[in-house]
Amino acid sequence: MLSWDETIFRNPEVFDPDYVPDELLFRDSQIRQLVSCIRPAMLNSSPINAFCLGPPSTGKTSTIKYVLREAESEAGILYSYIRIPRFREPYKVFSKIFQDVLGQQSPPSGISKTVLMDRVWSNLDEPLLIVLDDINFLSKAYANEILYEILKAPDEYGVKVGIVAAATDVKFPLLLDPFVGASFHYMEIHYPSYGYREMEEILRKRVEYGFYEGVFDSRAFRRVVELAYNAGDVRYGIYLLKAAGVNAESRGSRKVEDKDVEVAHAGESLSFVAKILTALNSEERAVLRIIYSNDAIPTGDLYEQVSSEIKMSYRKYYNILEKLERLKLIEISFGEKGKGKTRYVHRKYDVEVVEKAMELI
Ligand SMILES: Nc1ncnc2c1ncn2[C@@H]1O[C@H](COP(=O)(O)OP(=O)(O)O)[C@@H](O)[C@H]1O
Ligand SMILES: [Mg+2]
Repeated sequence: MLSWDETIFRNPEVFDPDYVPDELLFRDSQIRQLVSCIRPAMLNSSPINAFCLGPPSTGKTSTIKYVLREAESEAGILYSYIRIPRFREPYKVFSKIFQDVLGQQSPPSGISKTVLMDRVWSNLDEPLLIVLDDINFLSKAYANEILYEILKAPDEYGVKVGIVAAATDVKFPLLLDPFVGASFHYMEIHYPSYGYREMEEILRKRVEYGFYEGVFDSRAFRRVVELAYNAGDVRYGIYLLKAAGVNAESRGSRKVEDKDVEVAHAGESLSFVAKILTALNSEERAVLRIIYSNDAIPTGDLYEQVSSEIKMSYRKYYNILEKLERLKLIEISFGEKGKGKTRYVHRKYDVEVVEKAMELI
């Protein structure tokens, strides 16, 4: 048994969701571009606007925070970091900027947005960088309002201000009002998805920092990389590393093995699937149950099985299949059967995971 002071985690904090590693792999060029946008602020001129674009978990937030941390320790730089999903409305965004610039809580509501921002701009005597992370969580109207307020400030108040925005939706900048778009010039910084080897390296570094040497079994590690790669999400890999470590400790082991990874993965899929299942009605669940009692099955054969149990038109049956596919509970693909091409229905999860999830809801 492990006792309280005996842990396999060397640095458990490296698995926290907001941990920013000291070393960001494969992102040198993005970091360089960010630095060149922010550097003018350190020389007392206006930062250059930047737009970081790329799928989830490609290091947008991490590189931004990394560069801010460096800039801060180098020269001190005034910035306001805003994670949009937490501050979805202009008033909340402006209050956060107020707080970061004036170093005090914004006045309780009752004061208008215009007055609030007038006080910000009038008190600003050094370059300011405003980070709007995950900006695609804003409605189009709100995004336009916020950007407009910031973009007009240099002309109206003579202040020096720049924006670093990040979004997963590459089309997002195109949705802006032409008026805002016309004055919003920025450097586009692209974040491509990580390949298998890149994910492997990132996760390996995390194991080295996070666990004591020799704790994480190499087969278990390979499994984590594979699952993260299948999910297309390095963040999921980091979650699995930690959860597997916790599982190993809780069975009193000093070694993380592949069964610990499987348990973590199954647990995660289970709560994920259970959540999706609540969106299904009883007929849809019945079809799903039949699908999961078969291996890959042609859609026609499946319809026969379904209609022998539940009265259902082919059209309705097909709509249900489409919904289940959209929810990523099943996959439909073409295969050969006899002469022609046939559509096959495949399971996406382990049978046990779906059965357990069905019992849970
Ligand atoms: N290049 C990298 N090197 C090390 N860790 C990374 C790298 N890219 C992403 N990560 C890790 O993956 C997770 C997601 O990264 P994040 O910066 O939040 O992505 P995004 O903002 O693009 O969704 C974080 O835990 C982060 O530490
Ligand atoms: Mg992010």
